[in-house]
Amino acid sequence: YGPGLPGTMALPTPNPYRCPIAHCRDRCDLTCLDAGLALTDAQSVGAPAAAIVEPILSAGGIVPLPEGYLARLKARCEERGMLLVVDEAQTALGRVGTMFAFEQHDVVPDFVALSKTLGGGLPLSATITTDAIEADAFDKGFLHVTSHVSDPLPAAVGGAVVRTVLAEDLAARAVEMGARLRAGLEELQRRHEPIGDVRGVGLMLGVDLVHDRESREPDASYGSAVTERCLELGVSVNIVKFAGLGSVLRIAPPLTIAAEDIDLGLEILDRALTDCR
Ligand SMILES: Cc1ncc(COP(=O)(O)O)c(C=O)c1O
Repeated sequence: YGPGLPGTMALPTPNPYRCPIAHCRDRCDLTCLDAGLALTDAQSVGAPAAAIVEPILSAGGIVPLPEGYLARLKARCEERGMLLVVDEAQTALGRVGTMFAFEQHDVVPDFVALSKTLGGGLPLSATITTDAIEADAFDKGFLHVTSHVSDPLPAAVGGAVVRTVLAEDLAARAVEMGARLRAGLEELQRRHEPIGDVRGVGLMLGVDLVHDRESREPDASYGSAVTERCLELGVSVNIVKFAGLGSVLRIAPPLTIAAEDIDLGLEILDRALTDCR
């Protein structure tokens, strides 16, 4: 990646396990959000167009937004005349136990972005907004052109995906299988000192590997070694190895995963954690 687009600013990642402003420990009181907004206000005329957030930062290390974060961000956006865009490319359509992750925060976003899960493997994405915003964009003559818009085949697949997720109640399955996986990971945490934190929601979980539990310093090389060893033993335990973020195993199995496969995955992870010590 090069530099961000001029005018874009980043809010600190609200990770209570590793507070970005060295203020909280294990419980986020949202000071990082207020501090982040104060910094963006100081660098802007006070009215950027929108805030974009993931309900669970994925490549950011599986960090679920803390309780109250999204609601406060929505309120702060409204104060500034900004819109709230929720990026549900990874979280939507059942993975976190509800159709959309934002439902768990009692907030209605102005935009929701969908991708990945919507196409069930085909390239399909959707930008969802209110009638009023769409009409406003149309009146202003805003235009988005690209070759592949409203393609019938991926659109039919998207419809089938949504129907299947609803018909098979895969959100409920994500809750059930997610609880099983989480319990297994927490059991591993009791026996493996380098597992500093297990976090996430439903079937989107993260395992934070550290040098020691007091300093919580990330152990990226152990994370890479464990990922490699798991692959050798037959399990893909990490969505993507990300430079600088190798210390968090990002685990997001299919919503249809069988209980035995979760148990087998945990067994293999247990072995890999031991082998790589
Ligand atoms: C959270 C999130 N948002 C957006 C994107 C980009 O999605 P797309 O490749 O469909 O543009 C990704 C892809 O990695 C993602 O993980």
